[in-house]
Amino acid sequence: MQSQISTPQNPSEESAGQEMDLSMRVESIDPRLDLEEEIKRLKKEMNAVILAHYYQDDVIQDLADHVGDSLALAQAAAKTDADVIVFCGVHFMAETAKILNPDKPVLLPDLDAGCSLADRCPADQYREWLKQYPNHTVINYINSSAGVKALSDIIVTSSNAVDIVKQLPADQPIVFGPDRHLGRWVERQTGRPMVLWNGFCVVHEQFNARRLLALRVDYPDAVLIAHPECEEAVLNQADYIGSTLALLKYVQAHTEHKQFIVATEAGILHQMKRARPDAEFICSPPNSGCTCAMCPYMRLNTLEKLYLCMRDQRPQIVMDEETRKRALLPVQRMLEMSKNLSPVQQKGD
Ligand code: 13P
Ligand code: SF4
Repeated sequence: MQSQISTPQNPSEESAGQEMDLSMRVESIDPRLDLEEEIKRLKKEMNAVILAHYYQDDVIQDLADHVGDSLALAQAAAKTDADVIVFCGVHFMAETAKILNPDKPVLLPDLDAGCSLADRCPADQYREWLKQYPNHTVINYINSSAGVKALSDIIVTSSNAVDIVKQLPADQPIVFGPDRHLGRWVERQTGRPMVLWNGFCVVHEQFNARRLLALRVDYPDAVLIAHPECEEAVLNQADYIGSTLALLKYVQAHTEHKQFIVATEAGILHQMKRARPDAEFICSPPNSGCTCAMCPYMRLNTLEKLYLCMRDQRPQIVMDEETRKRALLPVQRMLEMSKNLSPVQQKGD
């Protein structure tokens, strides 16, 4: 089933009431301020580290200390010795940083920056669903709430899911949530059937396989690179499939190709164009309209909100300690199991 991009829902109770407060605070910013300089100043003053996902606005990526995919950012959060973590990404990513750093403030510019995968997999429903599958290893995509992580055995990202599943005993039954497309792709790569939760990413599911075929006629030499959150009909056409970091590395390595059709969120184009100024990047066409795909949740974070969260030290991620402790173990297992892995997975591995 194809989906439409919808308005982000609140990812958590903490965000209740923040909207009005946030818009008033944004309006209160002195227009003469050089926000980029102010952010750099505050970063020094607070001894903060800014972590940014590839799906953030270019200006935010350029201010960050680390720009990466979900795995790279979790690894950076696990290693940082900064006093404060400023997470320019979505709620589940900042939560993961908090799970790993309970004593540090973790700031997220907009608490409403959720994720369709995490928001449509509530922990209470997930707990009930899991009761049907006793004796299964529960593997969850990092795109899930702390409450769902707490119900998991191992967390994975799109960078390491295939390798982690391959490390499990061959006869071990597996439940995989919450992304059905990533789950199906992992099944195909590993040859291991898994029970899949029926979730999807509203951004990656909107790429249209039929329009993509037509685009490939117009660009016969272009290589199609796709994120595994895309639908199977899109992945079947792809020349290469990988996480956002893997796609970037592919573009960097394959200088023999000069045109790339990119089936993922358009934020990654900032780093791709920087890495390959000689190449042309074409956005994979969505179901409607002709623009590049942008995640409506990721893009809630703006330069102004980044500045405000650092100036006011809010909003911060809060989490009950019991949930955090239970979520920590599967996150640590992921970090341990992916220590020696290359982040790049080849199609057909
Ligand atoms: P990666 O960062 O693992 O590529 O995941 C993409 C994504 O959709 C993040 O929300
Ligand atoms: Fe979630 Fe998709 Fe946005 Fe990533 S791109 S944060 S998976 S909605």
